[in-house]
Amino acid sequence: MELFDALVQRASVRKLKPVEVTGADLQRILDAGRRAPSGQNFQPFDFLVIRDPDTLRELSRAQACIGDVTLAVALVADPEKSRWWLEDIAAATANMLLAITALGYASVWIEGTLLRQEAEHKRLLGIPENLRLMILLPIGQAAEAVAQAPKRALEDMVHRDRW
Ligand SMILES: Cc1cc2nc3c(=O)[nH]c(=O)nc-3n(C[C@H](O)[C@H](O)[C@H](O)COP(=O)(O)O)c2cc1C
Repeated sequence: MELFDALVQRASVRKLKPVEVTGADLQRILDAGRRAPSGQNFQPFDFLVIRDPDTLRELSRAQACIGDVTLAVALVADPEKSRWWLEDIAAATANMLLAITALGYASVWIEGTLLRQEAEHKRLLGIPENLRLMILLPIGQAAEAVAQAPKRALEDMVHRDRW
């Protein structure tokens, strides 16, 4: 799928069904995250690929749809590596979501529901204490047609020359 189509088609899909994510596709999704811009190129993030069904089931307590996929990617940041770690991990996530969409899969940015029990999830995944488990991206297929949430019109948000 072409980039500009992926930008329009990307949507938060919360009803997912399992699909086999090929190794080649997974590689492209992870590479999209790796190539994201980061402050001073410090790249203060790591990606954890979760395929274990028991672990996915445990994580579905944070958000049900994680239990419906064969694969999820956790994005983990090291706040000591960069003062821009939050922006950086967000950029990597956005890149990955576009790659997921372009390859014909569906996902949703899971953060709010995950962070409520971050410590517990970190223990489950064996993530060291000093790192932040920020985002989970389940990768599946949309169980039903979902459109991107409505966005404000450009005329409403674009200012020209002066505010
Ligand atoms: C920082 C952030 C945290 C989010 N956390 C969650 C979450 O925990 N669960 C969820 O279902 N969606 C979450 N989302 C997805 C948003 O709800 C979604 O992007 C927004 O409603 C717009 O919909 P769209 O993605 O279809 O454009 C999050 C998105 C962002 C950027």
